[in-house]
Amino acid sequence: MNLLLLGRGKTGSLVAEVAAERRHQVRVAGAKENANGAALTLASLENVGCVIDFTAPHSILPNIEACVKAGKNMVVGTTGWYKDVDHVRQLVKQHGTGFLYSPNFSVGVSLFLEIARTAAAALQHSSGGQIFERHHVHKKDAPSGTAIALQQMILEASGAALKDLEITSFREGEVVGMHEVVFESAADRIYLCHDAKSRRGFAEGAIRSAEWLAGKTGFYDFKNVWREL
Ligand SMILES: NC(=O)c1ccc[n+]([C@@H]2O[C@H](COP(=O)([O-])OP(=O)(O)OC[C@H]3O[C@@H](n4cnc5c(N)ncnc54)[C@H](OP(=O)(O)O)[C@@H]3O)[C@@H](O)[C@H]2O)c1
Repeated sequence: MNLLLLGRGKTGSLVAEVAAERRHQVRVAGAKENANGAALTLASLENVGCVIDFTAPHSILPNIEACVKAGKNMVVGTTGWYKDVDHVRQLVKQHGTGFLYSPNFSVGVSLFLEIARTAAAALQHSSGGQIFERHHVHKKDAPSGTAIALQQMILEASGAALKDLEITSFREGEVVGMHEVVFESAADRIYLCHDAKSRRGFAEGAIRSAEWLAGKTGFYDFKNVWREL
């Protein structure tokens, strides 16, 4: 595929590497090349099969709007924009493009979310819980998109058993991403933990998502498609 990758930061650089390993043609545009949307004109997008975005919360909406309006499929890994998810879903529908997003493209995290959902569904009333998330000091948003997704999923699955699930965020050194869930009852405490050893899982998930999205239209969340990749 011809891929345009937005963002040459910590994760974007690895996405470019995985794209090349999987024999895609990849062009990368960082903040400089994409100043004022310079990389996202109709002409520059002409031969692009899919745009992949790993940039920053302040730039993601203009990037999405330009790509979707140009009729391009998109895979979005950037976090911190989810209050606008309904607006983006509508835009994708209106322009008939394909769009796949996730706060976390790791298959391991997707499995972790399923495990947490199963545990929450089995909780009895009067249980409590907490989420802890740790990331590197450069991360721009808090709590992490993954922690918010985890919180929503657990609260939904627990029915009335959990009233609230507090998220505590830590920013330390170069931690790639660690998420912990603690379920508490009067009798015991259950710990679930996912610890990303590198960014490789995110990059592989994003490239495999772009491959999966080829030729499709519609608005997709990685949590609903990762088993098909
Ligand atoms: N979904 C997932 O699996 C997943 C995994 C990891 C990270 N993330 C998310 O992905 C995003 C990037 O993470 P990261 O760790 O790679 O951050 P990062 O190292 O800070 O990289 C972000 C890069 O985006 C560039 N950028 C900013 N605005 C841009 C624009 N308009 N066009 C093109 N490039 C632009 C920045 O360039 P300058 O430095 O020149 O400003 C920077 O190099 C964050 O939102 C993070 O939360 C998601």
